Formats: sequence, C-alpha cells, structure tokens
Amino acid sequence: MKSFIEGLPKAELHLHIEGTFEPELMFKLAERNAITLPYESVEALHEAYNFSNLQDFLDIYYQGMNVLRSEQDFYDLTWAYLQRVSQQAVTHVEIFFDPQGHVERGISFETALIGIYSALQQGQKQFGISFGVIMCFLRHLSEEDAFETLEMALPHKDKIIGVGLDSSEAGNPPSKFTRVFAKAREEGFHVVAHAGEEGPPEYIIEALDLLKVERIDHGNTCLQDAALVKRLVAEKIPLTVCPLSNTKLCVVDDMKNHPLPAMLKAGLQVMINSDDPAYFGGYLNENYAAISGLLDNDKNLLAKLAVNSFTSAFLSDENKVAAIAKVNDYLARHNSN
Ligand code: HPA
Ligand code: ZN
Repeated sequence: MKSFIEGLPKAELHLHIEGTFEPELMFKLAERNAITLPYESVEALHEAYNFSNLQDFLDIYYQGMNVLRSEQDFYDLTWAYLQRVSQQAVTHVEIFFDPQGHVERGISFETALIGIYSALQQGQKQFGISFGVIMCFLRHLSEEDAFETLEMALPHKDKIIGVGLDSSEAGNPPSKFTRVFAKAREEGFHVVAHAGEEGPPEYIIEALDLLKVERIDHGNTCLQDAALVKRLVAEKIPLTVCPLSNTKLCVVDDMKNHPLPAMLKAGLQVMINSDDPAYFGGYLNENYAAISGLLDNDKNLLAKLAVNSFTSAFLSDENKVAAIAKVNDYLARHNSN
C-alpha cells in the first residue's frame, strides 16, 4: 500500500507554506539572520510540538515565522517543500501564505510573495509541479487590516489566484470578513476559508452564504448538521481535509475515529492535505498513509481522494481532465497486477 500511495499522482490544496518550516531549516536561517531561537536544539524544538488545540499550535507557528526575513529565506522555505513533494508524486499545489504575519513584523508583502513565487516557478520548471498562491487573511485581526492586505495584493494579481481565511477560528466567524471577501471576489480572486475546524457548523454556513467560498478548508464539523452535509454534497463544495493536523490539534481524538470514511460515504467532495507538515508530522503521502487503514487500504478509495484533489483544484477543465486520466491510468495499472 505504501508504494501505491507513493506513486499515486495527487494535488495538495491546503498547505500553509509557513507550516513547512522544518526545525533544521529554522535553525539554519536563524543563524544566517543572527536570531537566537528560544530553543537549544532541533530536538528541543521538536519536543515543543505538542499541542492541545489550534491556538497552542498558532502561538508556536507565529514564533517560527519570525525567522523569515529576506526574499531568499522565503525562497529556501518554499524550495525545501517542493523538493520534498517532488518525491511524493505531487503534481499540483495551491499554497497559502500569511502576509499579515510578515508585514506586521516589518517584512514587506513583496519580500514574502516574490521569494515564495520564484521558488514555485523554479519547481514548475524543474519538477513539473504546477501551482497557485492563495493569500490568507488572519481572522484574529480586523476586517480593516484585511482590506489593507488586499490592497497590497492588487498589483500582484498575476501571482495570486485567491484569498483565504485562517488563524484562530473560535470567536472569529466568517461574517467578520463579509465585505473584504466581496471586494476580493470583485477583483477576480478565488475565495476559500477555513471553517468547521474548531468552529461550529454555522461558521461553514456563513462561509458559504456570506463569503461565497468555493472550497471549505477542513469542514469537519459539518457532520453535526445533516442539512448542511446535504447541501455541501448537492453543491459539490470541496472540503480540504487534513488528517494528521486533526489528530495533532485534537480536533479528532484518535486517527481511528477520523471522520473521513463517513465523509466519503456521505458523498462529500473530500481530499487529503497536510496543512502544516513540519509541525504535524507528515507531508502528503504520510497523510494518505495515516488514513489508508481506515479505508481498508482500498486503492479505489485512495485514488478517489486523488481524483477529488484535482477536481477541486483551481485548474482549467482541460488540465483537470488530463490529471484525472493519469490517476485512473495509475489505478488501472495497479489493479491489474
Ligand atoms: N487552522 C487555522 N489557521 C492556520 C492553520 C490551521 O490549521 N494552519 C496555519 N494557520
Ligand atoms: Zn490550514
């Protein structure tokens, strides 16, 4: 099963580039930038990665970001991620970045964006991995702050395909960002939002009705509302599910209780993603592997998740069809031997 997953062509649609910051690289960049980390060693930093909820994680995640200063730092971070997933049969990525997490520390929007974007261009050239960049608004900050961030993105419409919403969910409902999402849509950006990770199903409904999102990031709590599940199925709204993130952040108590099989059974358009792989213990293949047993190691279901990753991507219909054909060819080859 491991080798089936390793070679299965797949897309990643829920990945925070700042969440790919491996401790080894963090120490290296800290040294380059003459920053002293509040941890003695790579091992000590690893040991800090024990979270009891989303906020616990976010505190460490924002602290880690602090080390990123130059365009080269953002390039190196993104390049390290691409090198990893180029070994995982990942052929398309749509990655999030958190501009406000950098701008508020005096790092320009362009420094972060250009560093990330240049690495993605190189990844497309060298590994054939196509990509899109989605900038997220930090929901613990104000809508006014989000508007200022959107303004910064306007000269870079050629490099940014969409806007998202992340950070502390509880107490920061999608409704707080209705107007800025309307403006983002008007400007032609795709729109997505984290909802139903820790927040109630109502936040998913708000994201659909008020923000008019095209995908829901996470969406786990939809299962508490049968009418909402029915709607998500009928409207074919993709849910970007992140198994290792869910257990690490205690959204799910144990992988054996992960709702993914129930979500598939309900007909929801789900796929697998890694969210913040450096912090949650695995990249895309490790997430597929973590869930595989729950799906009885059924190759058809694993392939279905890969197909959904392309169906749900912001790709042209032509590119979707080509990518899905590759998944189906791969499955046919593996089912015949
Ligand atoms: N949820 C919310 N905000 C985030 C996450 C997440 O899983 N990862 C990085 N920012
Ligand atoms: Zn996320």
